[in-house]
Amino acid sequence: MSTKMPPRPTSKAVSAPIRVPKMHNVISVASGKGGVGKTWFSITLAETLAKRGARVLLFDADLGLANVDVQLGLTPRRDLGGVLQGRLGLGQAVTPYDDGGFDILAGRSGTGTLAQIPPPKLAGLGNDLSGLAKQYDHVILDLGAGIDRVVRQIACWAGTSLVVTTADPTSLTDAYAYVKVMHQADPEIDMRIVVNQADTKRDGERTFQSLAKACNNFLGFQPQLLGVIRRDRKVADAIRAQTGLLSRHPSSDAATDVAKAVEVLLEEV
Ligand SMILES: Nc1ncnc2c1ncn2[C@@H]1O[C@H](COP(=O)(O)OP(=O)(O)OP(=O)(O)O)[C@@H](O)[C@H]1O
Ligand SMILES: [Mg+2]
Repeated sequence: MSTKMPPRPTSKAVSAPIRVPKMHNVISVASGKGGVGKTWFSITLAETLAKRGARVLLFDADLGLANVDVQLGLTPRRDLGGVLQGRLGLGQAVTPYDDGGFDILAGRSGTGTLAQIPPPKLAGLGNDLSGLAKQYDHVILDLGAGIDRVVRQIACWAGTSLVVTTADPTSLTDAYAYVKVMHQADPEIDMRIVVNQADTKRDGERTFQSLAKACNNFLGFQPQLLGVIRRDRKVADAIRAQTGLLSRHPSSDAATDVAKAVEVLLEEV
């Protein structure tokens, strides 16, 4: 009889975290500060990509304070709440949004508990998404504001990380904080800045330069500018009408700027 004992499992093997692979076709939309236009930009990005013929899934990853469905006037019968309760598979919670030509995974608003989702459960959701993402050309994650654990964990799934900021100093400070923690978590991260609600393109570029300078000075790297989106009253008009900007005001300044940002994005994604 052999006296060799099988190796004892190490505690590391037992408690190893479930890793979610980075998904090259997943684009996260984050900001740090709330209210800068993440959800509106995510929807318009989805509309623009879909209009170019891409298969797009918009995932409302603002767990607990979801509002993609509110901006689009939808009342989805199924949402992520059912998935997290184990009643639905992720694919079963997808709602087609025919007016925009893309699919939506609706969040569940008003359930603060979803924001407290434990890491292994969130990782399970990420792994399910990596299966579902294969059916799409692009998956867009509309993240919640802030840089808490859930936001950071979900953001790590994305192959491309977009950070939305305005010229407002608090928005810029929070965007910098987001860039910093994500860069520390993954120095190879593909991070691009979207300056939203800019008075002019030139102003937006100046806003980007001040953020890029801070990143360069203090973090030793510089994120790229994806695009400048001008402030446009038609954005609020479309949101009030609970419809996408592209179907209501396809030639508006903001729609034109998002289309330009998409051109830049597709050059490299
Ligand atoms: N380019 C723009 N021009 C004019 N108004 C804009 C523009 N982008 C966003 N807004 C306005 O900003 C408001 C907030 O947008 P939105 O809800 O998308 O922000 P958010 O970052 O997702 O907020 P939260 O952090 O609460 O999720 C909208 O009601 C919209 O009217
Ligand atoms: Mg939002």
